[in-house]
Amino acid sequence: MNVDGVPYRSIWPIAQRAVGIIDQTGLPYEFRTLELESSRAVAAAIASMQVRGAPLIGVAAAYGIALATNGDAGDAAIEQAARELLASRPTAVNLRWAVDRMRACLRQVAPAHRRAAAWREADAIAQEDVQMNRAIGSHGSALLRELHGLSGRPVNVLTHCNAGWIATVDFGTALSSVYMAHDAGVPLHVWVDETRPRNQGLLTAWELAAHGVAYTLIADNAGGHLMQRGKVDVVMVGADRVSRSGDVCNKIGTYLKALAARENSVPFYAAVPSPTIDWQLNDAIRDAPIEERAASEVRTVHGRDAGGRQSSVEVAPPQAPVANPAFDVTPARLVTGLITERGVVAPAQLEAMFPEGQARS
Ligand code: MRU
Repeated sequence: MNVDGVPYRSIWPIAQRAVGIIDQTGLPYEFRTLELESSRAVAAAIASMQVRGAPLIGVAAAYGIALATNGDAGDAAIEQAARELLASRPTAVNLRWAVDRMRACLRQVAPAHRRAAAWREADAIAQEDVQMNRAIGSHGSALLRELHGLSGRPVNVLTHCNAGWIATVDFGTALSSVYMAHDAGVPLHVWVDETRPRNQGLLTAWELAAHGVAYTLIADNAGGHLMQRGKVDVVMVGADRVSRSGDVCNKIGTYLKALAARENSVPFYAAVPSPTIDWQLNDAIRDAPIEERAASEVRTVHGRDAGGRQSSVEVAPPQAPVANPAFDVTPARLVTGLITERGVVAPAQLEAMFPEGQARS
């Protein structure tokens, strides 16, 4: 996608010595890029959310393993890098998926050839991410076109968090559908949940504005009201981990949108590239690992002051007890459909659509 007319991906290899990333902690106020030169630097970038979004976390981890092989391509060094990467954030299963795929690939290769193989495999994972998101966009945009055909009005989409191109290598998952529909002339408007405490909705607003898609930023609590008033035609979100039965673990607050959507007969879709499916997970409500993040994220708000400088201000007393679960689980029964690279599927049909997944579990 373009930033000020310049095409970018959210991560890119640099001569097999580093990976470039967009530092998402600066957005939407400042666009800056960084070079990461070690697997440890990649793990730190994931933990600090300089790179974020489930698919991008997975791809970054793959490059992290490739970077590890630059120094020492022996088993112990790769295992050490894998451990550090896996410990960076717990919820997005794409991280484990990518690390496992890199390990499986490198296990077949003699240490002397691992570096080349690792960069090749990480590049392949990145390229596949782009292809999956394109396919998701094509299936999801067909849904949006259909909704427009039914009403004859612009389609009002509500989205939560950021499932856009910067959360993936390119195009995004939920927003890929929006971009493709928009590019194909389907009239659209997106309600963008602010997504406290980290306000990833601002990243979504930044993306949509850059692409010329009409949007309105709303406080997280506004969605139910808008649905009651008939102002939302469809909810489209991303996912960080989907169980084999189609429960969707995504950014905290997604579950409340799904409840409101069901109550108001608004269809609720999650965009799910297959590396986001955890075939070992049966009961996501009980077993999905939910990241608990720092209390400071709730007690403070980050923004830009009148002088244009980024800063954080306290909105709660520093001693206020805080809970900060970063994800929640929307049970499959509230999900109208999962938009995968193979097509749109009801949660109960997910295993039938990916029979090879069952074999992996
Ligand atoms: O904590 P984040 O910003 O990494 O969480 C991101 C989300 O929850 C996204 O909705 C999800 O990863 C899908 S990204 C295409």
